[in-house]
Amino acid sequence: MGEERFLSPDEVRDDSTNKSLRPRTLKEYIGQSRVRKRLGISIEAAKVREEALDHVLLAGPPGLGKTTMAHIIANELGSDIYITSGPVIEKQGDLAAILTGLERNDVIFIDEIHRLNRNVEEILYSAMEDFQLDIMIGKGPSARSIRLDLNPFTLVGATTRSGLIGAPLRNRFGMILEMEFYPDEDLKQIIHRSSLLLGISIVEDAALLLARRSRGTPRIANRLLRRVRDIVTIEGGSEITIDTVESAMTLLSIDEDGLDAMDKKILTVIIENYRGGPAGLKAIAASVGIEPETISEVYEPFLLQTGFLVRTNRGRMVTDKAYRHLGIIGEGSSSLLWDYGDRKDEGEA
Ligand SMILES: Nc1ncnc2c1ncn2[C@@H]1O[C@H](COP(=O)(O)OP(=O)(O)OP(=O)(O)O)[C@@H](O)[C@H]1O
Ligand SMILES: [Mg+2]
Repeated sequence: MGEERFLSPDEVRDDSTNKSLRPRTLKEYIGQSRVRKRLGISIEAAKVREEALDHVLLAGPPGLGKTTMAHIIANELGSDIYITSGPVIEKQGDLAAILTGLERNDVIFIDEIHRLNRNVEEILYSAMEDFQLDIMIGKGPSARSIRLDLNPFTLVGATTRSGLIGAPLRNRFGMILEMEFYPDEDLKQIIHRSSLLLGISIVEDAALLLARRSRGTPRIANRLLRRVRDIVTIEGGSEITIDTVESAMTLLSIDEDGLDAMDKKILTVIIENYRGGPAGLKAIAASVGIEPETISEVYEPFLLQTGFLVRTNRGRMVTDKAYRHLGIIGEGSSSLLWDYGDRKDEGEA
């Protein structure tokens, strides 16, 4: 990512204190009630049957609590958890070493599972299905395949790109759980919980205001809360008020809808360089000066969800909400806004 971005839901250094903010049980986990309910039932059932829980895929944008949920699953099962990620497992042997080391009903958490190497992914199929590993040893004519039996285990996979997971892998998950952006009410609760844990009080309205600027994302809510707390600390105050939240947001250039400078740059580029779109992802990324994946994984989900941007089969288009938000009355913007039809002159992406 080209520039440091405060609102990025990516994990950064100050998230280490986040560990202490992480809920540890399903009951403590706020929001995502559908996901919680489904997991709760299956975890209880697995415990009654003394079996490994079915494999779980957690999908959704960064910072919504997938890693947190993986820990909770293991905790609720009373199992140990082994944590790794797709890009870290380079060879079949790496995965074999991990899987053969698991005890009965343990959890293995593979973050960014969409980035698993093909070879590695292939041996995962029989491991997930039959708790067996077939791996090739040696090369050329002397190569042979050996079969290893594994203890039953639960794979919890996390991905920000569920679309990149092919059917063979996807079909081996017993549960595919899509995490959603959190409504303001849930974020408000998370903020109250975190401020209690951080030892700072926050007035009701200030918590709601902060929730509204957090892009539906708990990680961002916690990060903003810490920055606001900094301001209270240096000002020698004792609680977070609406005023403190507002001055912090001004300082951080975060507007009332939670958009930051980069979000606005993306929208503005589409308006100014592509007449509101449709514009292709790569073209937008080049104009803004960041990686296409960063746009599609980090910025775009929230802009789509909040209706500032729409995706058509010919590219991204800004909406009238974006024009209004940015205070731009584009020349001919009204026709750009409503015309989703075939216009040949818009194909520069
Ligand atoms: N439901 C929740 N209730 C309370 N706090 C939460 C909840 N979900 C997430 N958090 C907080 O948000 C932080 C980010 O969550 P987490 O690291 O689990 O996100 P993630 O989905 O794994 O993100 P990434 O895709 O970047 O790995 C956690 O440290 C935790 O404190
Ligand atoms: Mg994570």
